[in-house]
Amino acid sequence: MPPAVAEAVHEAELLATYYPTPELVVQRMLEAVDLQTGEVHFDLGSGDGRIVLAAAGDFGADSTGYEIDPDLITVSSNGIRRAGLSGRARILRQDLLKADFKRADVITAFLTPEAYVQLEPVLRAEARADVRVVAYKFPVPGWQPDEVIALEDRDPAIPTHEIFVYRGAPASSE
Ligand SMILES: C[S@@+](CC[C@H](N)C(=O)[O-])C[C@H]1O[C@@H](n2cnc3c(N)ncnc32)[C@H](O)[C@@H]1O
Repeated sequence: MPPAVAEAVHEAELLATYYPTPELVVQRMLEAVDLQTGEVHFDLGSGDGRIVLAAAGDFGADSTGYEIDPDLITVSSNGIRRAGLSGRARILRQDLLKADFKRADVITAFLTPEAYVQLEPVLRAEARADVRVVAYKFPVPGWQPDEVIALEDRDPAIPTHEIFVYRGAPASSE
Protein backbone atom coordinates (compact mmCIF):
# COMPACT_ATOMS: atom_id res chain seq x y z
CA MET A 1 0.00 0.00 0.00
CA PRO A 2 1.47 3.45 -0.87
CA PRO A 3 2.53 5.41 2.26
CA ALA A 4 0.13 8.26 1.46
CA VAL A 5 -2.81 5.86 1.55
CA ALA A 6 -1.61 4.15 4.72
CA GLU A 7 -1.66 7.49 6.51
CA ALA A 8 -5.29 8.10 5.58
CA VAL A 9 -6.34 4.59 6.51
CA HIS A 10 -5.71 5.41 10.19
CA GLU A 11 -8.90 7.43 10.01
CA ALA A 12 -10.98 5.15 7.80
CA GLU A 13 -10.87 1.63 6.48
CA LEU A 14 -9.77 1.25 2.86
CA LEU A 15 -12.91 -0.38 1.48
CA ALA A 16 -11.74 -0.79 -2.12
CA THR A 17 -8.47 -0.39 -3.97
CA TYR A 18 -8.43 2.37 -6.57
CA TYR A 19 -9.54 1.26 -9.99
CA PRO A 20 -11.26 3.71 -12.34
CA THR A 21 -14.65 3.11 -13.90
CA PRO A 22 -14.26 3.20 -17.71
CA GLU A 23 -15.52 6.49 -19.16
CA LEU A 24 -18.20 4.83 -21.32
CA VAL A 25 -19.58 3.20 -18.17
CA VAL A 26 -19.55 6.50 -16.24
CA GLN A 27 -21.86 8.17 -18.75
CA ARG A 28 -24.20 5.17 -18.88
CA MET A 29 -24.41 5.01 -15.06
CA LEU A 30 -25.50 8.63 -14.80
CA GLU A 31 -27.97 8.29 -17.68
CA ALA A 32 -29.42 5.14 -16.12
CA VAL A 33 -30.43 7.03 -12.97
CA ASP A 34 -31.60 10.02 -15.03
CA LEU A 35 -29.42 12.47 -13.07
CA GLN A 36 -30.94 15.95 -13.37
CA THR A 37 -29.55 19.48 -13.19
CA GLY A 38 -29.30 20.63 -9.56
CA GLU A 39 -29.76 17.19 -8.03
CA VAL A 40 -27.42 16.16 -5.21
CA HIS A 41 -25.04 13.40 -6.28
CA PHE A 42 -22.45 11.50 -4.21
CA ASP A 43 -19.69 9.25 -5.53
CA LEU A 44 -18.60 6.95 -2.70
CA GLY A 45 -14.84 6.53 -3.09
CA SER A 46 -14.35 9.04 -5.88
CA GLY A 47 -10.89 8.05 -7.15
CA ASP A 48 -9.59 10.46 -9.80
CA GLY A 49 -12.94 12.31 -9.73
CA ARG A 50 -14.16 11.24 -13.16
CA ILE A 51 -17.72 10.51 -11.99
CA VAL A 52 -17.93 13.76 -10.01
CA LEU A 53 -16.66 15.69 -13.06
CA ALA A 54 -19.19 14.02 -15.35
CA ALA A 55 -22.08 14.48 -12.88
CA ALA A 56 -21.38 18.19 -12.40
CA GLY A 57 -20.01 19.00 -15.85
CA ASP A 58 -22.18 16.95 -18.20
CA PHE A 59 -25.36 16.58 -16.11
CA GLY A 60 -25.34 19.85 -14.10
CA ALA A 61 -25.64 18.07 -10.75
CA ASP A 62 -24.29 19.26 -7.40
CA SER A 63 -21.68 16.56 -6.92
CA THR A 64 -19.58 15.45 -3.94
CA GLY A 65 -16.87 12.80 -3.99
CA TYR A 66 -15.85 11.06 -0.78
CA GLU A 67 -12.23 9.87 -0.86
CA ILE A 68 -9.45 9.04 1.61
CA ASP A 69 -6.41 8.70 -0.66
CA PRO A 70 -4.60 12.06 -0.47
CA ASP A 71 -3.07 11.77 -3.95
CA LEU A 72 -6.45 11.04 -5.52
CA ILE A 73 -7.97 13.92 -3.55
CA THR A 74 -5.34 16.26 -5.00
CA VAL A 75 -5.79 14.99 -8.57
CA SER A 76 -9.56 15.15 -8.47
CA SER A 77 -9.74 18.53 -6.72
CA ASN A 78 -7.37 19.98 -9.31
CA GLY A 79 -9.55 18.52 -12.06
CA ILE A 80 -12.61 20.22 -10.61
CA ARG A 81 -10.81 23.56 -10.41
CA ARG A 82 -9.44 23.25 -13.95
CA ALA A 83 -12.91 22.43 -15.28
CA GLY A 84 -14.34 25.54 -13.56
CA LEU A 85 -16.75 23.37 -11.56
CA SER A 86 -15.81 24.44 -8.01
CA GLY A 87 -19.27 25.97 -7.53
CA ARG A 88 -21.05 22.65 -7.81
CA ALA A 89 -18.43 19.93 -7.28
CA ARG A 90 -16.07 19.08 -4.45
CA ILE A 91 -14.05 16.19 -3.00
CA LEU A 92 -14.26 15.56 0.74
CA ARG A 93 -11.47 13.74 2.54
CA GLN A 94 -13.91 11.66 4.49
CA ASP A 95 -14.83 8.05 5.14
CA LEU A 96 -17.57 7.17 2.66
CA LEU A 97 -19.41 5.30 5.43
CA LYS A 98 -19.89 8.68 7.14
CA ALA A 99 -21.37 10.51 4.15
CA ASP A 100 -24.41 12.69 4.83
CA PHE A 101 -26.60 10.14 3.01
CA LYS A 102 -29.96 11.79 3.59
CA ARG A 103 -28.96 14.69 1.28
CA ALA A 104 -28.34 12.49 -1.76
CA ASP A 105 -30.72 12.18 -4.71
CA VAL A 106 -28.28 9.93 -6.56
CA ILE A 107 -25.41 7.78 -5.29
CA THR A 108 -22.78 6.09 -7.46
CA ALA A 109 -20.35 3.45 -6.24
CA PHE A 110 -17.70 1.08 -7.49
CA LEU A 111 -16.78 -0.87 -4.37
CA THR A 112 -16.10 -4.50 -3.46
CA PRO A 113 -18.69 -7.01 -2.22
CA GLU A 114 -16.95 -6.86 1.21
CA ALA A 115 -17.30 -3.06 1.28
CA TYR A 116 -21.02 -3.32 0.51
CA VAL A 117 -21.50 -5.56 3.54
CA GLN A 118 -20.55 -2.52 5.65
CA LEU A 119 -22.17 0.12 3.47
CA GLU A 120 -25.54 -1.55 2.88
CA PRO A 121 -26.97 -1.25 6.42
CA VAL A 122 -25.82 2.36 6.66
CA LEU A 123 -27.41 3.21 3.32
CA ARG A 124 -30.61 1.44 4.25
CA ALA A 125 -30.81 3.30 7.56
CA GLU A 126 -29.76 6.76 6.40
CA ALA A 127 -30.48 7.27 2.70
CA ARG A 128 -33.85 8.64 1.60
CA ALA A 129 -36.42 6.10 0.45
CA ASP A 130 -36.41 7.65 -3.04
CA VAL A 131 -32.62 7.67 -3.47
CA ARG A 132 -31.37 6.32 -6.81
CA VAL A 133 -28.25 4.18 -6.49
CA VAL A 134 -26.11 2.89 -9.33
CA ALA A 135 -23.29 0.43 -8.71
CA TYR A 136 -20.66 -0.67 -11.20
CA LYS A 137 -19.45 -4.28 -11.37
CA PHE A 138 -20.80 -5.55 -8.03
CA PRO A 139 -24.43 -5.37 -6.85
CA VAL A 140 -25.53 -4.09 -3.46
CA PRO A 141 -26.18 -7.30 -1.50
CA GLY A 142 -29.80 -7.93 -0.56
CA TRP A 143 -31.15 -5.19 -2.85
CA GLN A 144 -33.22 -6.12 -5.88
CA PRO A 145 -31.98 -4.08 -8.86
CA ASP A 146 -34.63 -2.33 -10.96
CA GLU A 147 -32.36 -2.73 -13.93
CA VAL A 148 -29.11 -4.51 -14.77
CA ILE A 149 -27.33 -3.03 -17.75
CA ALA A 150 -24.69 -4.93 -19.69
CA LEU A 151 -22.27 -2.84 -21.72
CA GLU A 152 -19.77 -4.22 -24.20
CA ASP A 153 -16.32 -2.67 -24.03
CA ARG A 154 -14.72 -1.33 -27.22
CA ASP A 155 -11.92 -3.81 -26.51
CA PRO A 156 -13.36 -7.30 -27.12
CA ALA A 157 -10.75 -8.75 -24.71
CA ILE A 158 -12.42 -6.93 -21.79
CA PRO A 159 -15.44 -8.71 -20.27
CA THR A 160 -18.90 -7.12 -20.49
CA HIS A 161 -19.41 -4.31 -17.97
CA GLU A 162 -22.37 -4.66 -15.61
CA ILE A 163 -24.25 -1.79 -13.98
CA PHE A 164 -26.83 -2.33 -11.21
CA VAL A 165 -29.55 0.32 -10.97
CA TYR A 166 -31.73 0.80 -7.86
CA ARG A 167 -34.56 3.34 -8.00
CA GLY A 168 -35.29 3.64 -4.29
CA ALA A 169 -33.83 2.00 -1.20
CA PRO A 170 -35.56 -0.99 0.40
CA ALA A 171 -37.48 -0.23 3.58
CA SER A 172 -35.55 -1.09 6.77
CA SER A 173 -37.94 -3.95 7.54
CA GLU A 174 -37.48 -5.66 4.12
C1 LIG B 1 -12.69 1.10 -7.25
S1 LIG B 1 -12.24 2.78 -6.88
C2 LIG B 1 -13.55 3.67 -7.69
C3 LIG B 1 -13.14 5.10 -8.03
C4 LIG B 1 -14.24 5.92 -8.72
N1 LIG B 1 -15.48 5.92 -7.99
C5 LIG B 1 -14.50 5.42 -10.10
O1 LIG B 1 -15.50 4.70 -10.24
O2 LIG B 1 -13.71 5.69 -11.02
C6 LIG B 1 -12.70 2.89 -5.14
C7 LIG B 1 -12.22 4.16 -4.44
O3 LIG B 1 -12.72 4.17 -3.11
C8 LIG B 1 -11.75 4.81 -2.28
N2 LIG B 1 -12.03 4.39 -0.89
C9 LIG B 1 -11.83 3.17 -0.33
N3 LIG B 1 -12.23 3.15 0.95
C10 LIG B 1 -12.76 4.38 1.22
C11 LIG B 1 -13.36 4.96 2.37
N4 LIG B 1 -13.50 4.29 3.53
N5 LIG B 1 -13.80 6.23 2.28
C12 LIG B 1 -13.64 6.95 1.12
N6 LIG B 1 -13.05 6.45 -0.01
C13 LIG B 1 -12.63 5.18 0.03
C14 LIG B 1 -10.43 4.30 -2.83
O4 LIG B 1 -9.35 5.10 -2.44
C15 LIG B 1 -10.70 4.31 -4.34
O5 LIG B 1 -10.33 5.54 -4.92
